Amino acid sequence: MTEAWRPDDEDEQRRRGASGPVKVRVPAKVNLHLGVGPLRRDGYHELNTVYHAISIYDELTARRGDTLALTMEGEGAGELALDDTNLVIRAAHALAGYAGVVPHARLHLRKQIPLAGGLAGGSADAAAALVACDALWGTGLSRDELAGIAADLGSDVPFLIHGGTALGTGRGEAVSPVLARPTSWHWVVAVADGGLSTPAAYRELDRLRDAGTAGEPLGSTDGLLGALRQRDPRVLAAALGNDLQDAALSMRPALADTLKAGEAAGALAGIVSGSGPTCVFLAADEAHAGRIAAELEAAEVCREARVAHGPVAGARIV
Ligand code: C5P
Repeated sequence: MTEAWRPDDEDEQRRRGASGPVKVRVPAKVNLHLGVGPLRRDGYHELNTVYHAISIYDELTARRGDTLALTMEGEGAGELALDDTNLVIRAAHALAGYAGVVPHARLHLRKQIPLAGGLAGGSADAAAALVACDALWGTGLSRDELAGIAADLGSDVPFLIHGGTALGTGRGEAVSPVLARPTSWHWVVAVADGGLSTPAAYRELDRLRDAGTAGEPLGSTDGLLGALRQRDPRVLAAALGNDLQDAALSMRPALADTLKAGEAAGALAGIVSGSGPTCVFLAADEAHAGRIAAELEAAEVCREARVAHGPVAGARIV
C-alpha cells in the first residue's frame, strides 16, 4: 500500500502529483448476459453477468485546486447534483481517505453516457475520478487497489476500471477478465427519453418473480462465454440475455416497440441494457450498425440511436 501522508501535508502532495491537467476517458458498459439470482440479506442480488465495455465515453478532467469542486457539460447537465452525493465527488473522497491525502481538485465532466440509462454512466464517472485523482495526487495505486475502493462506490465501478469483456459475480463487483481472441463487436445503442431507476428495476423483477410472471432465470454464463469464443455475431446474438429485461419492459412498455423496430431493421438481436431503458442491438459489422441506427431514428422509437463497438479499455488517462 502507498505510504500514508499526513492530510495537511499539501506541499508533499503537490510534489508527487501531476502539475498539469489529467484527462481520463471512460466507457459505457452493456451486459451481454445479466443473470439475476435471489435477493441477498444485504439488499443486493447475486449476479452472474458478462460485462462488455463499448465506445461511448465520458471524459473527466482533473486540475489542481484549493477545494474539491465539480462542473459538467453534456448529457444530464442541469439535472445531476454536483454536490457530495455525486459519485465523482464520493470517489474523490474515498480515494483521498484511503491514501491519506487532501481531496483538493477541480474536476470537469463531459458526459455522453445518458443518465440512469442502464449503461453504468454514474459508475463510469466514479471509475474515471479514481484514475484521474490518483494521477493528479500522485498516490500511485495499482488498478486492483483502485478496483477495491471502486467496489464500495457501486457494483459496476470495478468493471469500469478494468474494461474489456469480463465476468462479474457477487453483486457484480467481483470481476475477472474474459480472455478471448481479439474480435470487435458492433452495436447500435438506442437511447431513450428519461431514465429508469436501477433499484426500482430490481424490485420490479422480485415482484414479477413472486407473482410467477417473470421469465425463466438465465442461470450460468457458459453459453455466452462459448458464443464469444466462436467470434460469429449470429452465434453471439442467440446467446444474449438479460433477466432485468422483463422488469424494464413492465415499467416502460414502449421499450417493446424499440426492440421490435430493431429486429425489423435487421439487427441480429436486441436486448435491454442492464436495468434500461437503453436498448442495444447487435449488428453484423459497422456498416450494418449504421443502417440499423438510421432506421431506428426514422421509426422514432428512441431519442437517439448511436453506433458503438466493443470491447474497449476501461478508465484510462488520454
Ligand atoms: O451497486 P449499485 O449502487 O450500483 O446498485 C444500485 C442498486 O441496485 C442497489 O442499491 C440495489 O437496489 C440494486 N442492485 C441489486 N443487486 C445488485 C446490484 C444492484 O439489487 N447485484
